[in-house]
Formats: sequence, C-alpha cells, structure tokens
Amino acid sequence: MAKVKTAFVCNDCGADYRKWQGQCSECRAWNTITEIRLGPAKSAGVARSTHAGGYAGTTAAVRLLKDIDVVELPRFSSGLQELDRVLGGGFVPGSAILIGGHPGAGKSTLLLQTLCTLATQHSALYVTGEESPQQIAMRADRLSLPTDTLKIMAETDVDAILAAADQHKPKVMVIDSIQVVHSEAIASAPGSVSQVRECAAQLTRFAKQSGVVMILVGHVTKEGSLAGPKVLEHMIDCSILLEGEQDSRYRILRGSKNRFGAVNELGIFAMTDQGLREVKNPSAIFLDRAERPAPGTTVMVVWEGTRPLLVEIQALVDDSSLGNPRRVAVGFEQNRLAMLLAVLHRHGGIQVGDQDVFANVVGGVRVLETSADLALLTAIVSSLRNRVLSRDMVVFGEVGLSGEIRPVPSGQERLSEAAKHGFRRAIVPRGNAPKQPIKGLEIIPVSRLDEALQAVQ
Ligand code: TYD
Ligand code: MG
Repeated sequence: MAKVKTAFVCNDCGADYRKWQGQCSECRAWNTITEIRLGPAKSAGVARSTHAGGYAGTTAAVRLLKDIDVVELPRFSSGLQELDRVLGGGFVPGSAILIGGHPGAGKSTLLLQTLCTLATQHSALYVTGEESPQQIAMRADRLSLPTDTLKIMAETDVDAILAAADQHKPKVMVIDSIQVVHSEAIASAPGSVSQVRECAAQLTRFAKQSGVVMILVGHVTKEGSLAGPKVLEHMIDCSILLEGEQDSRYRILRGSKNRFGAVNELGIFAMTDQGLREVKNPSAIFLDRAERPAPGTTVMVVWEGTRPLLVEIQALVDDSSLGNPRRVAVGFEQNRLAMLLAVLHRHGGIQVGDQDVFANVVGGVRVLETSADLALLTAIVSSLRNRVLSRDMVVFGEVGLSGEIRPVPSGQERLSEAAKHGFRRAIVPRGNAPKQPIKGLEIIPVSRLDEALQAVQ
C-alpha cells in the first residue's frame, strides 16, 4: 500500500513546514499549524506537473523560444466592459480567475449578472455553495436577468462539481465560493488551507485540461488578504479584488495578478437596486463639490491604468489628548502617512507631533499611487491652519524623503482632465509642467515642499 504523505501547513497564511511547531514563523500566528494529508503519490506527481505550468506530459521537448508559434489569445468578452478591462481584454479559455472581496462586496451579484448574460451566447454553469438555488433565482428575477440558459448547481463536493462540469462542458463556470468546497480525500474541515489548496488545484487543473474559464470566488479576511493567499496565488492566472465600503455606492475591481495582461486597470461599478451597473466614464464620480468648502480638503487627479480619476482627499488635524497621537489613514497606506508627516516636519517646518491626524479619500476609493502625497500634505496643512484651499485647484505629486517633489506619470493627461472639469489652478511637480499651456488652467510648478506649501497659502 502506498505510504500516505503528510505536511504541516499554517491555516492562516499557508506556509509549509516539515514538522509541527507552535508558532508559524511566517505570519507569527499561534496554534494555526495543522497536519494535512497530501494524498497518494500518483496525484502528487500530477501536482508537480501543475507547478511546472504545463500539461504537455512529462517528456516535453526542449525548443528555442523563437520557434514557438505566437498565437493571439482567443479571448471572448464577459459582456461587461469594466470586467473585460481588468481581465486585460476578456476571458481567456482555460484560465483560472480568483475574485476576492469582503462578504457583501457584491461578488455573487457581479458574477450572476455576468453569467446570466453570457449564458445567452455560451454555455455557462454557476455552482453555488453558499446560497440556495432559490435565493439565486429570486435575485436573478429581481434584477430582471435572462435566466433561460444559465445552468445552476448547488454542490460543495469537488468531485461532484468536476463530474458535472465534465458532463455539461460549460465554457465558463463560477464556484461561489472556493472556501466552502471540499474534497472527500482530505480529512480537514472545509475552508481550511489544506481543503482550499487541494480543491483549487483540482479545479485549476480541470480548467487547463478542458479549456473552461474557471472563476473562483474567495472571501477576504479582516486584514484584507485572501484566506490562505499563498496557497492560491501561484495556481491561478488572474487575481481580482472587488473593493468598496458597504455604505459606499461604488465598487472597484482591481487586478493584482494577471498572466494575460496588465494589472493596473480599474473597473468601476455602482451598486444600485438593479444590481451592479458599469460606470463607463468615472473621472469625476467621486467629486461632490456642491457643498460649502471646508478646510482640510484637496482635489487630486489619480491615474489608474489608462484613465484619470478626480478624487477628493480630506484631512483632519486636531489637538490630541493621547500621549501617542493617532495617525489614521483610510484609503491610503498608514506608513506613507507617517512618513509624509515626518517630511512635513523636517522640510516644511510644520510640527504635528502633538496632534491627531486623520486622512480619508472620499467615496471609499483606495489610492495606492504616490501622486497623492502632495495632495495629502496640502490637505493636512489646510486643516491645521483652518484655512480653506481654493476650490478650483488640483494638486498632485510625489514627495521624497528629502522634501523634493517628484514628477508622476501621465502629468499632461491629468492636467487636461482637471481642466475639462473646470479646475483653474494646478500645483504640480516641476517635471510635470506641460510645455504647451493648457487652456484655462494656471500651472504652478514646484520642486520643493516649502515652495508647494507657500503656493497653497
Ligand atoms: P453579494 O453579491 O451577495 O455579495 P458577496 O457575494 O460579495 O458576499 O451582494 C450583497 C450586497 O449587495 C448586499 O449587501 C446588498 C447589495 N445589493 C444591492 O444593493 N442591490 C442589488 O440589486 C443586489 C443584488 C445587492
Ligand atoms: Mg456571495
């Protein structure tokens, strides 16, 4: 009889160990390491070929790269432009896609809408493990989606799912969600790393062999990472996050890995009572400038993928009653805020050491670009001085550790977009000052932080 192989895996982060230990050396969590059975040696061999990335068999020929035929990827549209954009132009047959997000973000809604429409042209299968078929039918009915051709199945056993997929041969299938799928061959509970790992491996392997587009839904943990992220990362071709606060109207699709395209594109949707609706021209959706101006707000232009986005940044600086004043960043990186405050002190001569600082991006957007640095600092200074900034002004630029203002990509396009939305003044890095004047927009180029702070006075 074949010897059963086992391994020790952390249930939180998915790190592998040879022996059991009390604390995971990767993520420092206690008592999260469990023993898993790896299955018989035969399937381990198949798993190894998965890691090599191919199904060409074990005796693959060695060839020159130039001799490999370059074929255009036979993509097909998902029916939603914003989703296609994030995927890099549509679904690629045989690919495995992971869609992550907080519970309630709208993953099931998005995929149900996509699949119902797609099913009118291609064969599609929706496997639900969390909601009953009745619940899904009710939702589809309420959203007036075409339900005639979409196949649906309530199942969580991976073997049964694969058998059904083999029989019905869909072109696209959704597993909602990977965390509830389990395999009989593995002793641990559904949702544990070993189950997720084995089931996702079997499903991706099936996708490669059969050419079906396999979409796996995954919930993210409180910290914002997919449960057992390391486990899934290397298996899937494309990882997409659906972001957005529960109380915000907008949902943003952001790619974090894509083997078939770029990852910097955003797809933007609005959650309405009719489900998710695409926002085709999102440049100014997060701007709401109707109210009275207040100190502590600045408008900046973010460049996401191939599109500009005007967003409002708010800061509140207030006397702190704590020995260790708070620095809270919502929509920004916390460490970046701390770093910028240090630069503000050293190179701008402004001290906020005894103040609480709160920073927020309006509308629940997450800004990962460094071009937000200067806008964030001007908002902080505006709040500290309790002085309203000019409402027709946009600010962007990266702030370096020595107080220099560095240029950011696509400066010209950002400025044109600001001018289009009626802004009259722009504080920009000197390196981004356009050669030709932009009609109706006064450009104030700055190269150091103190210059920039003087310009916003
Ligand atoms: P859902 O797709 O079930 O989220 P997930 O699968 O990511 O957990 O979305 C649920 C949320 O979306 C729920 O809070 C209500 C909201 N929603 C609407 O606002 N309008 C709608 O038409 C639908 C279907 C959902
Ligand atoms: Mg769901």
